[in-house]
Amino acid sequence: REHAHVLEVQQVVQRFPIFADIDPEQRQEFLLLFKPRSANPGERIIQKGDKPDGMYFISSGKAAVDTDAGEVALGPGDFFGEMALLSGSRRTADVTALDYCELLTMSRRDFLQFLARNPGLRQRFTETASQRSEVNRRG
Ligand code: CMP
Repeated sequence: REHAHVLEVQQVVQRFPIFADIDPEQRQEFLLLFKPRSANPGERIIQKGDKPDGMYFISSGKAAVDTDAGEVALGPGDFFGEMALLSGSRRTADVTALDYCELLTMSRRDFLQFLARNPGLRQRFTETASQRSEVNRRG
């Protein structure tokens, strides 16, 4: 059963381009840190200004990020929550489920500890975070 769960999660994670380059052993370790969670249409997953609890990866469904520059839709293969975790600040935007979403979540602690041992992956998340904050700044 345990094994079946791991394989299922692995299939999901292979859909996330950000994980393409981590070596299989590391990826397996990373997979075990995920907890599945769902969100109903209209449910607020992240509230702007909150202290960050963790990371979110979208397996299915769509979520809307309400930025100062407008609404950005995220879907399967996308992730959110990295900005506050990496900068040590508060959540920068509300994120709301647009329809029924299946998410993989990871605690702040597990995420940051894993990145501390994987500089390449940390770099990728950092690049995405700075691209997004640039978009939000420009409007
Ligand atoms: P965080 O600030 O922790 O919480 C809100 C999240 O929304 C943020 O991390 C990003 O993951 C995401 N986000 C913010 N701005 C954008 C954007 N312009 N495009 C996509 N995602 C964004």
